[in-house]
Amino acid sequence: SQYQIAVVVGSLRKDSLNRKLAQALVKLGPPEFSFKYVEIGDLPLYNQDDDGDQAPSVKRLKAEISASQGVVFVTAEYNRSIPGVLKNAIDHASRPYGQSAWAGKPAGVIGTSIGSIGSALAQQHLRNVLAYLNMPTMGQPEAFIHSNDALYDADGNLNEGSKGFLQGWMNQYAAWVRKHA
Ligand code: FNR
Repeated sequence: SQYQIAVVVGSLRKDSLNRKLAQALVKLGPPEFSFKYVEIGDLPLYNQDDDGDQAPSVKRLKAEISASQGVVFVTAEYNRSIPGVLKNAIDHASRPYGQSAWAGKPAGVIGTSIGSIGSALAQQHLRNVLAYLNMPTMGQPEAFIHSNDALYDADGNLNEGSKGFLQGWMNQYAAWVRKHA
């Protein structure tokens, strides 16, 4: 496909609501877009001493981001910020200094939580980080998805309203990537 988008899910949990959201979201992408989940659960804890000799899993992460035309972050909210596992991955791929894999990649930020503000504060913290990393990040539409019983029907499909909303988000993100990639 013309555009490969890396999908970074900010939760390692087997039954992650954010992974489920990511899976629903990528189905709404246009035909010339493909989506690749990047694994962040096997990365070591970031240690600057290792910048000159990055672990194979870190090199893999960097190669996957570098090969992508955009990055979608689907993040959980932990204690009003992003989970440490996500920050760890971001830090890894930003180094060594001057060799960040993130720079210039058009980003989309989305997330869900069981709390009524739907990961909004985690997303705001993430935007701060992405600004520093020089990633052009789509401002609108924002998407603070409240995971409750109404989000999916009995068959696990998004309800019509949410599907329409996420389709709009994806259409805007695709346009954002075409403009910046
Ligand atoms: C949470 N949760 C949570 N939710 C929220 O809306 N705001 C928050 O600040 C927090 N803080 C928080 C801290 C920690 C350590 C945990 C484990 C959980 C609840 C969280 O939204 C819920 O567990 C989601 O299901 C996490 O996303 P995944 O793993 O389902 O994708």
